Amino acid sequence: MNRVLSGIQPTGELHIGNYLGAVKNWIEMVKANETFYTIVDLHALTIPQDPYQLRTRTLATAASLLALGLDPKRCTLFIQSHVPEHTSLSWLLECTASMGELSRMIQFKEKGGKRESVKVGLFTYPVLQAADILLYQANQVPIGEDQLQHLELTRDIAKRFNHHYSKVFVVPEAVLPKHATRVMDLQYPNQKMSKSGNSSLGTVFILDEPSVIERKIKKAVTDAGSEVVYDPKKKPGVSNLLELLAASLPSGKAPTELAGDYPSYSTLKAATSEALIELLRPVRRSYTELISDQSELEAILKMGAVKARGVASATLSVAQQAMGLSV
Ligand code: TYM
Repeated sequence: MNRVLSGIQPTGELHIGNYLGAVKNWIEMVKANETFYTIVDLHALTIPQDPYQLRTRTLATAASLLALGLDPKRCTLFIQSHVPEHTSLSWLLECTASMGELSRMIQFKEKGGKRESVKVGLFTYPVLQAADILLYQANQVPIGEDQLQHLELTRDIAKRFNHHYSKVFVVPEAVLPKHATRVMDLQYPNQKMSKSGNSSLGTVFILDEPSVIERKIKKAVTDAGSEVVYDPKKKPGVSNLLELLAASLPSGKAPTELAGDYPSYSTLKAATSEALIELLRPVRRSYTELISDQSELEAILKMGAVKARGVASATLSVAQQAMGLSV
């Protein structure tokens, strides 16, 4: 049985990139693996947060994951800050990572580069992510393509630690979805879809009403010409729609195959919005129910933290001993 770990930021409202790029695999993987999923509220602190909003959004993220179909009885779902071993191991790993390798992290360059005063936590963020994964001895990590560099760093840190001290950590591997590994912004198809995109029309949220989804897809930027072809370099807008369609349909058809089924951009857009609306229809209903019972959500997360701590504290203790700390 594989051990799986993945994490998500507590943005409150997930977008379709989060779902198709990662969470869909999380849900699938609970069936035959031992799975740990964490809402990374400590990572969220690397950029300014309103305390009330952070708390609210953390719960909303949990409700969203469950509404998408994550079964809390079959996985361990927890809030990162409820398991203090994450920050303890992170310090040990910080003392094995180098400034050079952290400086090369693309997400740090993108987020840090835009800010006048960059917090130290934003720089060391990928080490905390490595701790999240290594604490659970996870061998599989379901993520979207944008997290591959962080996973590579995690692998490097694990191998270095194992080589320098003793073989403490499992070296994990990424699990990417078949389609939609990097969902692009609908208005700026050369940029990754994200919660804080440049345009409110660029991101489809999992709780968007059908009419909103329809409008966003209708207004999605397409490319020169009129032929529906899958070519992410020459036709990034159309290719993104084809990826979204392929990932949303149950048929499992690849984007290249689907391209031939649509004679025009407008027929492709109509099919894509219909597929997304159908996919997300039950999610909105289920979310409303889940978020109205906060004590139930809190109970699930508390139980998750207890289970997670059992595994995390054992690994931390082995790592501490390997490094010569007296435990
Ligand atoms: P986060 O919260 O930005 O995203 C959560 C997951 O969604 C995927 N994702 C996407 N996939 C495809 N297309 C997109 N446009 C898109 N946007 C987001 C991400 O790849 C991710 O899998 N640092 C991480 C959270 C984290 C983590 C971890 C992940 C912390 N610790 C340990 C894995 C393992 C992050 O900010 O993801």
